[in-house]
Amino acid sequence: LRPPAPPPDTQHQHGIHSPSSTSIDLHSRNPLDYFRQAIADQVSEILAVDRQLVFESLDRASLDKADLVLATPRLRLRGVNGADVAAKVAAEFRLLDSAKVLAPTADGIHVRFFLSPSELPSTLLPFILHQGDNYGFDPSHGLRDPSDPEAGRKTVLVEFSSPNIAKKFHAGHLRSTIIGGFLSNLYERSGYNVVRMNYLGDWGRQYGLLACGWERYGDEAAFAADPIGHLFDVYVKISADFEPEEAGFKAASKRGNDTSELENKGLLGQAKAYFKRMEDGDPDALQLWARFRSLSIAKYQETYARLNIHFTDYSGESQVKQETMESVENILRDQEISQAKDGAQVVDFAKHGAKSLNVAVIRNRNGTSNYLLRDVGAAVQRHDQYHFDEMIYVVMAEQETHLRRLFKVLQLMGGRYELLSKSMKHVTFGKVMGMSTRKGTVKFLDDILADVGDFMHGIMRRNEDKYSQVVDPDHTAELLGISSIMVQDMTGKRCHNYEFSLERMTSFEGDTGPYLQYAHARLCSIFRKVDISRDEMLRADFSVLSSSPKAVNLLRVMVQYPDTVKQALRTLEPTTILTYLFKLTHELSSSYDHLKVLNPPEGRVTLVARAALYEAARQILCSGLRLLGLTPIERY
Ligand code: ARG
Repeated sequence: LRPPAPPPDTQHQHGIHSPSSTSIDLHSRNPLDYFRQAIADQVSEILAVDRQLVFESLDRASLDKADLVLATPRLRLRGVNGADVAAKVAAEFRLLDSAKVLAPTADGIHVRFFLSPSELPSTLLPFILHQGDNYGFDPSHGLRDPSDPEAGRKTVLVEFSSPNIAKKFHAGHLRSTIIGGFLSNLYERSGYNVVRMNYLGDWGRQYGLLACGWERYGDEAAFAADPIGHLFDVYVKISADFEPEEAGFKAASKRGNDTSELENKGLLGQAKAYFKRMEDGDPDALQLWARFRSLSIAKYQETYARLNIHFTDYSGESQVKQETMESVENILRDQEISQAKDGAQVVDFAKHGAKSLNVAVIRNRNGTSNYLLRDVGAAVQRHDQYHFDEMIYVVMAEQETHLRRLFKVLQLMGGRYELLSKSMKHVTFGKVMGMSTRKGTVKFLDDILADVGDFMHGIMRRNEDKYSQVVDPDHTAELLGISSIMVQDMTGKRCHNYEFSLERMTSFEGDTGPYLQYAHARLCSIFRKVDISRDEMLRADFSVLSSSPKAVNLLRVMVQYPDTVKQALRTLEPTTILTYLFKLTHELSSSYDHLKVLNPPEGRVTLVARAALYEAARQILCSGLRLLGLTPIERY
């Protein structure tokens, strides 16, 4: 075996402690690393390869296969057969006195390692119990410079939800809310400063149209009672009035006729004129609009709170300053990135090596801004305000071209703008089909939550016995309903489309929100029944768990939580966490019969150790649910 020249020893920078330590260093956040380190020590010697490289090549695996797997090609050994390398490791690996792992086996190019059941309970359980709510998270991810905590933390701006005032809150907004909420939590728990930004659709010609609608249909009392609903009604009515005109306009432009005349007549003319007044800063025009905006936000805040979401900043298209957009335009014009066309300013992306992005208008013919220009300005302003290191747009896949244009424009602008474009990422997601409740297609976030909550309440009532014990059934039904929606949404990968199914998402069987909540509530009920203090749990004789394969399997899942969280930071997929929680809860469900805590025949020592085991599992489940944005339910 001829290894490549070893890279400089980096182990200390990565916080891997000395191989002789016998329990997990509490500064290390990941107990699996403790086992990785023990393996890496030996494998690096056997193969004469860098220890750090071995350490990083040890991946977690599914329970039946192994706890850690080494794919030998990852070691980049030249001129050797991977299977031979694997066989050599398996043959030469020695089991030390207090063996942390069992004798490995070679399987093709892989070496499979299993953690030692005699070691696992007593190393892992006290660690998890001590770490409490911190278990799983490594706040050093967010450090600017891991070797220098003084250098501060990175800031990530997550833009999500971003509904449009007076319009429907559609599935695209719902998914953005759920995914964005999760990502914000994930970054926060990983040590980043997180700016949660809601970029409202609150500007543009349609708000001119809404103002025209208000003149015809607005009603102060109705607005005060239900701002979001009333504005929506007004907008629906005025849009209907506008429809014939819009059809004529579209037909004319399709025929290639000059539409400039039409544009200034009728409702379209009025809407445009009104929006122009807004853009020119006319106080009267702005006052009405500001009321629409602030009352809608107040209402949104209430609804988001039910989803455990609090935005740092309710921004929006309206918040982009004219000066910012003008300075952007000047650069675009001066650098010949944009050009005049029929009185408008456009960017012809084909000229800049991005043919697929076509031609995009930057400034409308009558001088008003548009969606793209506002987004460019918004990015610049956000950076000025928050100095973020990364910015994430959680926006549905339909807007991919728009966002690619945005990134491209900034890149073409060069200098700091190009750097800015490099720090931006679009986290995209697929569609939800058939998002309707029993009351028809969904219009507002409130309705979705209320309707699914009602449906859930109906299901709970079917089990009279249980129902009578629930302390606050309305609240529980609401929480279960929200869990149903969110878990259904996070089940697949983001890019997948899925069918909105009330029946499926609210079922207590299968991988659903209610199932996870039930698993949590069941664990909580164990602790209501057995009265054991945390202190006593910490002093338990954990070794009694070693002989039970069920207990060991649970621990083997539990040890993977920190790795799973780390993986989620790479995938930015809620399903990474969710799949893990289902693995944990399935393992739990199959354990209860084997690992009884109520008067176990094995006696108190066993009882205390099992209680510690369940407590650690409860802690992880609770932590995972919170990370996903759910409220863990303690009893129902
Ligand atoms: N309000 C937009 C819509 O509902 C989504 C905003 C997406 N974010 C952005 N920076 N363009 O379609």
